[in-house]
Amino acid sequence: MTRPLMDTHGRLHRDLRISLTDKCNLRCTYCMPAEGVPLLPKQELLTTQELLRVVGIAVDAGVEEVRLTGGEPLLRPDVVDIVAGISAMEGGAGPVEVSMTTNAIRLPKLAEPLRQAGLSRVNISLDTLDPDRFKQLSRRDRFEDTMAGIDAADEAGFHPVKINTVLMPGFNDDEPVELLRWALRRGFELRFIEQMPLDGGHEWQRTNMITGAEILAKLRTEFTLTEVPGRGAAPAELFYVDGGPAKVGVIASVTMPFCGACDRLRLTADGQLRSCLFAQGETDLRTPLRESGDPEEIVDLIHFCLAGKKPGHGINEPGFLQPPRPMSAIGG
Ligand code: GTP
Ligand code: 5AD
Ligand code: SF4
Repeated sequence: MTRPLMDTHGRLHRDLRISLTDKCNLRCTYCMPAEGVPLLPKQELLTTQELLRVVGIAVDAGVEEVRLTGGEPLLRPDVVDIVAGISAMEGGAGPVEVSMTTNAIRLPKLAEPLRQAGLSRVNISLDTLDPDRFKQLSRRDRFEDTMAGIDAADEAGFHPVKINTVLMPGFNDDEPVELLRWALRRGFELRFIEQMPLDGGHEWQRTNMITGAEILAKLRTEFTLTEVPGRGAAPAELFYVDGGPAKVGVIASVTMPFCGACDRLRLTADGQLRSCLFAQGETDLRTPLRESGDPEEIVDLIHFCLAGKKPGHGINEPGFLQPPRPMSAIGG
């Protein structure tokens, strides 16, 4: 009989988010410094085989959903094989659902093979509809590639495509209405995200963040929003737009934390398990995986990691410390 993946605060964990690589083809200011970050040495990265093995063990222990993140997950050369391997797994609740959060740049090549391999959903980051702003924020001239990737996701049949937008004061906070009109036209589910203290430069400031309440106020000048009931463990609070069925989401991680319903564990590309985006510590799964490979030892370590999970992220508490890894090395 498997022990449920329950932490000491009564939260059952079903969702594993895996960073496939810490590399990225963009340099978004809220995630990475301009010069990038030192990359993980290749020999420290889990191989495809090691990754599939550890996911298989986690699935046997109770994980039902896997989200692949990065860096940019599509930069991992074996990403299609990884998706195929995980989506072939069976958990207690049936086949494992595999989804991905990506910047879309490589989707024109990969959307179709990923769909064939069993990827169920994609969430795509897009912060602006203005090519110059895109270049300024991401420090790369890839707006057209991103838009082509979004089209490719749509054409491959990933429905609904979700779009993640981080709003920043004085930069793109004049765009939410236009972004939502665009998303409605295209049939995408847009979610506005509060910026969290996870930037590589440790420059985040509370005063430099557009709050969920501010976003809703801006949207309500043009749209009627009514709350969608039944949020569960999802970060996004969803609203029907003008009576529905189209929806828009707000992910207010800082001002309205949803940690009480958290069901997530995170695995880094170098095989370290994290109980929270903001955890200071990590549990090494790579060493036991390479040395003994004993599934029971790995399951015990997963439970050990869970036992240390804090009730919340602590961003709003005195003495809060950013985690040592930036967002690019943890995965969103
Ligand atoms: P679905 O609802 O399954 O589509 O996915 P998701 O919204 O959980 O995934 P996605 O990777 O698109 O995450 C969107 C944003 O939510 C991220 O960019 C983060 O800002 C935020 N987020 C995701 N997971 C967590 C989490 O565990 N804690 C906090 N505080 N924020 C999270
Ligand atoms: N705060 C909130 N969201 C962030 N993302 C990246 N960095 C941050 C941050 N500091 C989001 C991106 C992407 C997802 C992987 O994480 O918009 O959609
Ligand atoms: Fe879970 Fe940590 Fe995210 Fe809160 S901040 S929802 S505890 S991962």
